Amino acid sequence: MNVPMPVFLPDPSLKLIAPEAAHRPHRLVGNSPVLWVDAPFAPPGRGFHAKLEGANPGGIKDRPGIHMVEEARRRGELAPGAPVVESSSGTLGLGLALAGLTYGHPVTIVSDPGMEQSMLRLLTAYGARVEQVRTPHPDGGWQQARREKVAELLARTPGAYCPDQYHNPDNAAAYRSLATELIVQLGRVDVLVAAVGTGGHSAGTARVLRQAFPAMDLIGVDSTGSAIFGQPARPRLMRGLGSSIHPSNVDYAAFDEVHWVAPAEAVWACRQLARRHYASGGWSVGAVARVAGWAAGAYPEGTRIAAIFPDGPHRYLETIYNDAWCREHDLLTDGPADRPDEIDEPDEREVVTWTRCRTVRDPLCRPTAGAAHTPAATR
Ligand SMILES: Cc1ncc(COP(=O)(O)O)c(C=O)c1O
Repeated sequence: MNVPMPVFLPDPSLKLIAPEAAHRPHRLVGNSPVLWVDAPFAPPGRGFHAKLEGANPGGIKDRPGIHMVEEARRRGELAPGAPVVESSSGTLGLGLALAGLTYGHPVTIVSDPGMEQSMLRLLTAYGARVEQVRTPHPDGGWQQARREKVAELLARTPGAYCPDQYHNPDNAAAYRSLATELIVQLGRVDVLVAAVGTGGHSAGTARVLRQAFPAMDLIGVDSTGSAIFGQPARPRLMRGLGSSIHPSNVDYAAFDEVHWVAPAEAVWACRQLARRHYASGGWSVGAVARVAGWAAGAYPEGTRIAAIFPDGPHRYLETIYNDAWCREHDLLTDGPADRPDEIDEPDEREVVTWTRCRTVRDPLCRPTAGAAHTPAATR
């Protein structure tokens, strides 16, 4: 599309920063902004750079939603017009709805009763069909119940394709653009702090960033009650990050350490982010901010820390930002601890508040794809 340059620009500097006009909505994905975040998360003079993925049309998962569909079409696994079926707590659902609209595929999202009404309505508005499972799987929880529903839908829908975000390497590969943007925006990244659900964005972003900065540290942020890093799976209030299964997209060898964050700590962080920085989001955003702020104090001065904020706050107005809901779940605190507890082994004991572990391993002991990362910094 050729848009003529206006003859008069009220602010001439704008022509340098305004993004190009998009012809189709998927062209709006990427180039998300970065915001400096300091108090109350980091000590005076310290802070971190937050990559605001909530600025994408749907959120961080617009990137893998589009990329997984494009790759499946290219390989011939997804025929023109064939249905896409996937399990999602919401964010990937939005990305797939965008991909479906872009490439002409009907999209069905399998979710559970924990999905917010606003997300359900939004997905429906964007043309996706939402199927909700009603009971959790006795061992694998809601996630396993959703996966079984997906298998059932695939079996009875000829030609249907499931991107399988938990195990599809295209999920992680979709974050090449995000990593490249960070290099352009920050020049250097010494520490990356990322939430872990399927493992896609931590693995994909770190892999590309380490090509430029081999000594970069990667800090994973998980939810208490999540099984990913070897803790027992429990019912979880926090959505997005955490899992009751062990997705193969989690690149265990890439992590220097993992932090588990509890819901009340994430709520406090989300509300502080909103009040102090006018930038907030959901459970993973709060948890990542808490850990990135701590890292800003724990690493030597001058360490450049990038933290990925996967989404924005709107979906959480009836939960994280609703006093009554938070009181009902006992989530309102004056301010949580300013440092995590520590355990030496990920399965040493069950953790229920913010806890750090510098030993990261795959609880299923699967062979690793990449070489283990040797941390550069000593803390
Ligand atoms: C809001 C939010 N944050 C974090 C994550 C975790 O990201 P990943 O699946 O790339 O590990 C997700 C995944 O769905 C998410 O929706």
